[in-house]
Amino acid sequence: MPLRIGAIPIDFPVGLGALAGYSDLPYRLICRSLGVPYCVTEAMLDRQVLLEGKLRKRLIRLDPADHPVAGQIMGTEPEVMAEAARSLDGMGFDIIDLNFACPVRKVVSHKRGGALMNDPDRALAIVRAVVEAVPGRPVTVKLRRSFRDADKTHEVFWTIARGAFEAGVAAIAVHARSVEQKYTGRADWGFLAALKREFPDRTILGSGDVTSPADALRMLDETGVDGVLAARGAIGNPWFFEQTRDLAAGRPPRKPGLDEQRDVIYRHFRLACEAYDPQRGLKILRHFSLQYAKMHPRRTDLRNALVAVRTEEQWRAVIDAFYSGPQ
Ligand SMILES: Cc1cc2nc3c(=O)[nH]c(=O)nc-3n(C[C@H](O)[C@H](O)[C@H](O)COP(=O)(O)O)c2cc1C
Repeated sequence: MPLRIGAIPIDFPVGLGALAGYSDLPYRLICRSLGVPYCVTEAMLDRQVLLEGKLRKRLIRLDPADHPVAGQIMGTEPEVMAEAARSLDGMGFDIIDLNFACPVRKVVSHKRGGALMNDPDRALAIVRAVVEAVPGRPVTVKLRRSFRDADKTHEVFWTIARGAFEAGVAAIAVHARSVEQKYTGRADWGFLAALKREFPDRTILGSGDVTSPADALRMLDETGVDGVLAARGAIGNPWFFEQTRDLAAGRPPRKPGLDEQRDVIYRHFRLACEAYDPQRGLKILRHFSLQYAKMHPRRTDLRNALVAVRTEEQWRAVIDAFYSGPQ
């Protein structure tokens, strides 16, 4: 069955999940050029979406090449979340995604993100307010399997999932870890399978431990979810999506040569300079090139060289030295 979120068709069931610090417009555009069919923005605080200013400009960027895209918001007051959703709707985000999953302590202590997995009444009040605020626009929610690791009944999860579908959400995305687990331990794919069995006619997106293209296809196969959101496995490997399409079509996944990797890194740098400014572009790419280095045959030497870099000239010299010619 082809993946759809509301009325929006997604032409392949493996997309780029929300990644704070990574799934910004420049990286989304890089992934789009390598076959990603669907992306989610970094989580945006509802108040930041509503506040005119530099931060808002930095967070909220759309590009004709970056659709369908979900704008993800995080907050605690139903009215403010609804207002932020209306704002993203007006800007042309295809889908509004509500973050009830973030485990970061500061977020949870402000009753946002993953805290909502402990507060079903508030979670559902937010869902209802947002669905009502953006008629016709698909709304999705990102959940964790529970708040506490020890909670194997997942009672709050089922309350939120059922209530959210009843309120009209188009899909539920689930990171199959608890909020307490943060990013440690294993994601419970068995829970994703149970979820799909419970809602066979609804759209379910799975997340957690999708470290390779083969994992993405295995999650689809083993759990029956309608779509998969790759996250850490796709940081620094934007070829992930093309490779997953290759695997699904029975072709060996294409591995980019070093020249192609270098071209993508420089293109990413140009996009980041355009989206922000050259100083910030360099900061982002210094950080990102450590992730791109995961694919390099001399990753340790490359990483060591990159951490010593301070200026754009130094950074370019390292990239040129490691990515040019025979290695
Ligand atoms: C650095 C980082 C930032 C993340 N930021 C977000 C975010 O802003 N919103 C969100 O819903 N999930 C976020 N996540 C969670 C991922 O989307 C994903 O659900 C999680 O990493 C599990 O998938 P994985 O085990 O394949 O990485 C983030 C994860 C990481 C590692």
